[in-house]
Amino acid sequence: TLSVLFAGLLAYLLGSVPTSVWYGQAFFGIDVREHGSGNAGATNTFRTLGKKAGTIVLLIDVLKGWLAANLALILFYLNEITLDERVPMKLAFGIIAVIGHLFPVFARFKGGKGVATLLGMVLSIHPEAAGVCILVFILVMLSSRYISLSSIVATLAFPLMMVFNLFGPEHNLLVIFGFILFGLIVYTHHKNIGRLLRGEEARIPIGRRRSR
Ligand code: G3P
Repeated sequence: TLSVLFAGLLAYLLGSVPTSVWYGQAFFGIDVREHGSGNAGATNTFRTLGKKAGTIVLLIDVLKGWLAANLALILFYLNEITLDERVPMKLAFGIIAVIGHLFPVFARFKGGKGVATLLGMVLSIHPEAAGVCILVFILVMLSSRYISLSSIVATLAFPLMMVFNLFGPEHNLLVIFGFILFGLIVYTHHKNIGRLLRGEEARIPIGRRRSR
């Protein structure tokens, strides 16, 4: 149990690494939370600091979720957790990392919206489904040019795939937590949803000339 608690703490600290905030402060001398959407995430880093910064932040934020979920594998070897326990363990540590990302101890608890870190966890638990989620994200992004909408739809795609057993029978927890995490992502995007409904959400400048 002690190693589980320790791993839980480690997962929270991992998720808590405020990549976008630290990257912006280190290389640009700015806090991305004071620019664009005010969010401490990869999207707002792209928007505020450009492609290179956005890509690096995205990759590290995904890696945080992936590493946290894989803490379960390390435990698996140390304590001989059964195969059946892998999914719940990965879910638990992955979710703790997402919570760390939302409420980072290293950035006055004002973090991001959790999409990239959640993707890292899903990549670890179910790579095929994660691939479909990425595809859905890209399709919605190219057709709507709203990143927030793409995040929300891609997050919904996961529990739907689990319910309909797209890849064969799935662990029940993936169905249940798929929907719970979708709810969490809807919650973290509540301001985006308001802007989307009012037609005020910023679109990304893909395929069109930048308007600003
Ligand atoms: O992952 C966050 C994204 O879905 C929205 O970010 O900065 O546009 O609120 P932002």
